[in-house]
Amino acid sequence: VGPTQHTVGPTQPTVGRAKVKVSIVGAGAVGTAIAYACLIRGSTESLALFDTNADKVRAEVLDLNHGTQFAPPCRIEGSDDLAVTAGSDMIVVTAGAKQKPGQSRLDLAAANVALVQVLTPALLERSPDAVILFVSNPVDIVTHAAITATDAPPGRIFGSGTVLDSGRLRFLIAERAGVAVENVHAVVVGEHGDSEITLWSGAAIGGVPAAEFQGPALDGTSGTVFDAVTRADISAQVVHSAYEIIRGKGATNLAIGLSTVRIVEAVLGDQHRVLPVSTLQTDPEELSGVCLSLPTVVDSRGASRVLDVAMSDEERAGLRASARTLREVQATLER
Ligand code: 2OP
Repeated sequence: VGPTQHTVGPTQPTVGRAKVKVSIVGAGAVGTAIAYACLIRGSTESLALFDTNADKVRAEVLDLNHGTQFAPPCRIEGSDDLAVTAGSDMIVVTAGAKQKPGQSRLDLAAANVALVQVLTPALLERSPDAVILFVSNPVDIVTHAAITATDAPPGRIFGSGTVLDSGRLRFLIAERAGVAVENVHAVVVGEHGDSEITLWSGAAIGGVPAAEFQGPALDGTSGTVFDAVTRADISAQVVHSAYEIIRGKGATNLAIGLSTVRIVEAVLGDQHRVLPVSTLQTDPEELSGVCLSLPTVVDSRGASRVLDVAMSDEERAGLRASARTLREVQATLER
């Protein structure tokens, strides 16, 4: 935060009952996509944006405010002073270094961990009861660092994890199956990154297990759609899609905006929605001590309960390997 701070937004103080307030830390491509999705969905009554770049945050807040006539009511303000986030019900953190083409998410670890270790206590000081959702990458490592930097209950601090990856997976399955994406049930677990695991054993399309789903194959013949080759191809596409988007447009932002707002609404609406968010694992032993994603109940307390999801032996081994990858990165940062 610089020496001179600038705040932009409505000049009148808020009157009447307290509003539901969401703050977004980082007004880059991801933070603004989340703000925009919150605005057009009417997810919150009040939005605050924080960024160290005063001109950027001012411009983004003006741009969003100019659209408020066309969206559900929302008060939007922004500043390069962290005080703008005070009294938040929920804070979404997108700040930090971002991947350059060819870089993996884990390449960002040291810089972004150092940032959240300072930032998280400062946010909680201004919003002691807020649920904090981390989106900055590598999200599992960053979330772990944030949890260990404070004494907040771990479920109140969690990461967006593989909610987006699961959305990518469902999109690809829906396309191949020729059904609406809402009728696909499938989840990606583990690291939000290269070691993530697709749980094909539990995947279903309109209630039909993916392994049994019949339909026209790409060559026009009818039969099993999700054979081993197709499954491996789709899983690889899910892992590589962020790299492809970063190569083409410099960052991924629109889908992470929408998927993050799904998580925000689950918290604000106390929805008890099951989402693969990244939480500090305590059990079983081989996963404990790292943050990674598993289907988790998300409600007003944050990430409240990790479900014990069925997996094949191969999937479980993959999840353990993903946890090992994260543990190794954590160990190098703590050295
Ligand atoms: C994504 O998966 C880069 O983590 C970001 O879109």
